[in-house]
Amino acid sequence: TTTPRNSLCQMLWLLAVSLLVAPAVAATFDPDLICTLLVNGTKINDPRACNTWIQCIDDLPVNGTCAEGLLYDRESEDCLPSADVDCISSDPCAQMPDGFTSDPYSCNGYYYCKNGMGTRGECNTGLNFNPGTEACIRDYPCTAKMNPDSYCNILPDGVFIKDPWNCDGWQMCWQAELVNGSCPDGFYFSARLGKCDYPQNVQCAFTQPPPQTAQPDVCPKAGSFISDDRSCNGYYYCRNDTDGQMVLEHGVCSDGRFFSAANGGACVPRTDIRCEYNRCVNMGYAAIQLANLSDDGCVGFAICQNGTAIAVADCPNGEYFDELTQLCTTQVISFAACAL
Ligand SMILES: *[C@@H]1O[C@H](CO)[C@@H](O)[C@H](O)[C@H]1NC(C)=O
Ligand SMILES: *[C@@H]1O[C@H](CO)[C@@H](O)[C@H](O)[C@H]1NC(C)=O
Ligand SMILES: *[C@@H]1O[C@H](CO)[C@@H](O)[C@H](O)[C@H]1NC(C)=O
Ligand SMILES: *[C@@H]1O[C@H](CO)[C@@H](O)[C@H](O)[C@H]1NC(C)=O
Ligand SMILES: *[C@@H]1O[C@H](CO)[C@@H](O)[C@H](O)[C@H]1NC(C)=O
Ligand SMILES: *[C@@H]1O[C@H](CO)[C@@H](O)[C@H](O)[C@H]1NC(C)=O
Repeated sequence: TTTPRNSLCQMLWLLAVSLLVAPAVAATFDPDLICTLLVNGTKINDPRACNTWIQCIDDLPVNGTCAEGLLYDRESEDCLPSADVDCISSDPCAQMPDGFTSDPYSCNGYYYCKNGMGTRGECNTGLNFNPGTEACIRDYPCTAKMNPDSYCNILPDGVFIKDPWNCDGWQMCWQAELVNGSCPDGFYFSARLGKCDYPQNVQCAFTQPPPQTAQPDVCPKAGSFISDDRSCNGYYYCRNDTDGQMVLEHGVCSDGRFFSAANGGACVPRTDIRCEYNRCVNMGYAAIQLANLSDDGCVGFAICQNGTAIAVADCPNGEYFDELTQLCTTQVISFAACAL
């Protein structure tokens, strides 16, 4: 029998659509891939269990297990008493070998674990699993659930990992947020060094990213430029290919310029452009630099380091931020880049 919580369990069973449905979201953690993207020797959390880690040695994962009663902590890169570690594992039964527990990948899924083996169930549409009461509850809030396979559950903060999908991209977890970045123009990200390097020193299979076929209506016409919808300085060039298909070729504006889609597309001074994406792109490589934020009435700024915002702040006493002088000022600033 399953325990003292029979009535709740019955409720759960009644509300469940079915047990033994197909696994919801498959775990994506791939240590063999991740280890090709990290500096030799990096130690990472193994999300498949709570008490194991992986060290990447010569591009290959090597397993390690904590001593009895200890769990692995990604931040200190050490085994700590279990009470000090908040384990988020892709194995739903990792922390609760017996009993009901939530599905790490969904809000409405749950598992019944017995001897560490889980059977999955799912709440009816509109209901979410509440691990506290072990019941399916209508509109039970399920906010900001960390995906066990997220880099922010795996890598220590501040460790660079190469983006496997392009040559110059990297990612990093910083205070539980995944930060994306890319090397300055003309540089590739070296997984071996954990930093940007000259392309001739970096092996990268994606020298020429394959052109993407454009969805209908994305390109106004062949020869036009459109935003890449993920960066302030990136764009796509719409080109007719030989079979009459419209394909997209990615490009980036030179330093100090952002893409503007107006009038067929152009790279214009970054100060003229409102942009909701990372405004720190290409800033803060030699020293910290401050950048405008969009849509804040020019009172706030981002602190940029190595192409990403490491913090945002507002000028004191209602002052305005002037990006050109990098100073807060009482003079009203109303640049297009940051105007409300
Ligand atoms: C990688 O690290 C391991 C252990 O730290 C070391 O033995 C090995 O020589 C390193 N490999 C390279 C290519 O530096
Ligand atoms: C490492 O651990 C994983 C998960 O626990 C396991 O599947 C794999 O077989 C282990 N590999 C080695 C070489 O022990
Ligand atoms: C970072 O990049 C990944 C993969 O390219 C993407 O899925 C994710 O949405 C990006 N995140 C941010 C905050 O830009
Ligand atoms: C692109 O292809 C369309 C249809 O095949 C054609 O009408 C158009 O002239 C081509 N445009 C350019 C710039 O080649
Ligand atoms: C920024 O890049 C520089 C030069 O590559 C490097 O020395 C520094 O450690 C990086 N800082 C961070 C926080 O990544
Ligand atoms: C910030 O906004 C001002 C006013 O538009 C502009 O002159 C400046 O170049 C902007 N800075 C950046 C980095 O966008």
